[in-house]
Amino acid sequence: MKEIIKIEGGHRLTGEVSISGAKNATVALIPAAILASDSVVDIYGVPDISDVESLSTLLEELNVSVTSPSSFHFQIDTNGMENIVLDHEAVTKLRASYYFMGSLLGKYKYVKMQMPGGCYLGPRPFDLHLKGFEALGAAITYSEGFYEIKADRLLGAKIYLDFQSVGATINIMLAAVLAEGKTIIENAAKEPEIIDVANFLNNMGANVRGAGTNEITIEGVEKLHGHPHEIIPDRIEAGTYIIMAAALADDVTIKNIIPQHLEALTSKLIEMGVDIEIGADYARIRTSKDLKAVDITTQTYPGFATDLQQPLTTLLTQAVGASTIKETIYGERFKHCEHLRRMGAEIEVGSSRATITGPSKLFASKVEATDLRGGASMVIAALLADGVTEIDEIYHIDRGYDKIDEKLNSLGAKMWREEK
Ligand code: EPU
Repeated sequence: MKEIIKIEGGHRLTGEVSISGAKNATVALIPAAILASDSVVDIYGVPDISDVESLSTLLEELNVSVTSPSSFHFQIDTNGMENIVLDHEAVTKLRASYYFMGSLLGKYKYVKMQMPGGCYLGPRPFDLHLKGFEALGAAITYSEGFYEIKADRLLGAKIYLDFQSVGATINIMLAAVLAEGKTIIENAAKEPEIIDVANFLNNMGANVRGAGTNEITIEGVEKLHGHPHEIIPDRIEAGTYIIMAAALADDVTIKNIIPQHLEALTSKLIEMGVDIEIGADYARIRTSKDLKAVDITTQTYPGFATDLQQPLTTLLTQAVGASTIKETIYGERFKHCEHLRRMGAEIEVGSSRATITGPSKLFASKVEATDLRGGASMVIAALLADGVTEIDEIYHIDRGYDKIDEKLNSLGAKMWREEK
């Protein structure tokens, strides 16, 4: 059954909203859990999103049992696990299914799986992941849509990443924790989700040092065991609600956040004139008037996150003057702009750049969630627009935003789903 989201715009937001566990940590932690030998791994704070469902399907394919004894709590039992070829369509539903490459290679020295999927944000190669596996001693072949990666032994190595790739950093960590000897990842990405995965692996018995810096050192160990883990809050979900509040709050508090993870965003919002108070684990936003135009350049962490560029585009349509966005991570991540224009926004897109001139009055239209964060940008536009907006292709939104309807409606929005 295909659904669309409808949003009646123009309602101010008031109240509190609590942020869920980080999607981009969760989608690595679930494949990482299978590295534990014949153990039960408890993960707390698992968000209710469809990417988690897809990964659970893949665990079941591998004969790993997944149960949820209570909300947000997953129990992953690797007793009886088998290294089966991953050819289920769930592999193609998200990009992060490629973390099974690192974890299965690490555990069994062999993995065969389909090409992973995920949002189209322009070309998204994973050559750096493969380069890392090869450096550890693996041989890789690709034939008819399947990668086969195998090694007799995995031996620690020094691996320099040409780009600070989140995925490559995590995937190489997963492959290296059970390898023989020392692996050093140079020019590693520094995103908080990488630290979360390293902490998870260390608590399971791994020896990973330096996560969160440019150089990560992994001393291989023989075995990993289960250990409970609480996922960090989702900085991108938090940033999305902060942007929504900046657009429409009378008085909104976003709880369960790590403010340090959001500094690139909150400092820009302050520059725009948003009334924001940052506490130890919350952000409170009150009515903001006369927002000012700003310039943004997306960068790897701790720079401005590309994942918040799309939600922010919508807010910039409400700022006075011309704002520019320079996208250095995914040069083509501007598909949402066409739909924003349909709603009345004035946006010019050039090569890896967009210029947004505001303020524009937005009006309801029929639009699409072009990808996950593009979907969030449409939701914000619909909340601002006059009339009832219809958003199609909402499966993108459900991949990464836990109970978005419930959370927004509790703040006073009017949002519902209808069968298409
Ligand atoms: N890249 C390569 N080769 C590689 C890997 C990456 O050229 O082997 C390039 C990419 O094409 C891109 C850049 O490096 O231009 C960044 O890619 P990265 O590997 O860092 O991204 P990712 O691991 O595929 C994660 C998040 C994305 C987020 C990016 C950047 C997950 C599951 N996904 O992707 O999140 O945009 O890091 O921060 O962690 C989202 O949540 O909406 C999302 C797309």
